[in-house]
Amino acid sequence: MFRRALVTGGAGFIGSHLARALLGAGLEVVVLDNLSMGKVENVPRGAHLRIGDVRSEADVRAALDGVDVVFHEAARVSIRASIKEFFADADTNFMGTLNVLRSAAGSGVRRLMFASSMAVYADSPTPDPIDENHACEPISPYGVAKLAAEKYCLQLAREMGIDCHVLRYFNTYGPGQTFTPYVGVITIFIRRLLAGEAPTIYGDGEQRRDFVHVSDVVAANLLAMNSSLGSGVFNVGTGRATSVNDIAALLCARLAPDIRPIHLPPHAGELRYSIADISRLRDTLGYRPRAVLADELDAIIAHHRDDQSSA
Ligand SMILES: NC(=O)c1ccc[n+]([C@@H]2O[C@H](COP(=O)([O-])OP(=O)(O)OC[C@H]3O[C@@H](n4cnc5c(N)ncnc54)[C@H](O)[C@@H]3O)[C@@H](O)[C@H]2O)c1
Repeated sequence: MFRRALVTGGAGFIGSHLARALLGAGLEVVVLDNLSMGKVENVPRGAHLRIGDVRSEADVRAALDGVDVVFHEAARVSIRASIKEFFADADTNFMGTLNVLRSAAGSGVRRLMFASSMAVYADSPTPDPIDENHACEPISPYGVAKLAAEKYCLQLAREMGIDCHVLRYFNTYGPGQTFTPYVGVITIFIRRLLAGEAPTIYGDGEQRRDFVHVSDVVAANLLAMNSSLGSGVFNVGTGRATSVNDIAALLCARLAPDIRPIHLPPHAGELRYSIADISRLRDTLGYRPRAVLADELDAIIAHHRDDQSSA
């Protein structure tokens, strides 16, 4: 159905897994990434890497040559940084998305998948799963920019004759997650424990998250690409709640049973409860998350060990 895909942010964590899966599905793949966080070695062999910026019209137009489907993954991903660096956050996450949209207009692009986030939602008073109709009242600038970008995509893509699927990823984990001290609690805890340091938990640790494996996020993207639906907004998670204390306990037990996590004051902008109701994605596109967190941890730990020994 599609021949050539553009994956923005394809040198990063989710984008590189996605690029690999698209190549496996027989598509030609172009990656556009400015390498601010991504790495050349993440880009799978066979994909064509263009080093460039989603904020540049010339870079995006050049990357769109011959492309009929776009996966827009490039973003600044730190919720915490989005508070201090709100301008830079909005510049990439909002204006960068508008630039992708404007460049796609009148090109050969027929479908766009936009990587949105659970950060668009209002905090939830309970750890019950929230569906796509849950109030969208983001509590971080990152969430505001993602929500605004979603709305532009849905509204303008229709005008441009482009199908648009907004995928609201919940906490995505897996091998190859970009390491920063601020994004991806599983990756951060593993790195600290491997260095003999205690995991740092902000707040009481009873905040609950929906941890979804990157392979399931990729599967959701492929389902959206292949669906006969014109457009849609979908949660991408598992429906299962895990507390940050649970994660710390699982990882300490595997890596350093004598180490106890340290608790520090909570951060602004972070949701207390963030669990996906995935009924819409399951019932309309047939999504079934396959990975189980506890079964995946050993493979991720092994990946980090390899990474550290080759560094
Ligand atoms: N990881 C998660 O838990 C999570 C959760 C919800 C949503 N998301 C969204 O998924 C997408 C991918 O996230 P990820 O975890 O793979 O992050 P990542 O940081 O690993 O990947 C993002 C990539 O975008 C690139 N990039 C950043 N700014 C750019 C720019 N101006 N021009 C071109 N490239 C640029 C970076 O170099 C990086 O390779 C993002 O849109 C993010 O907001 C991620």
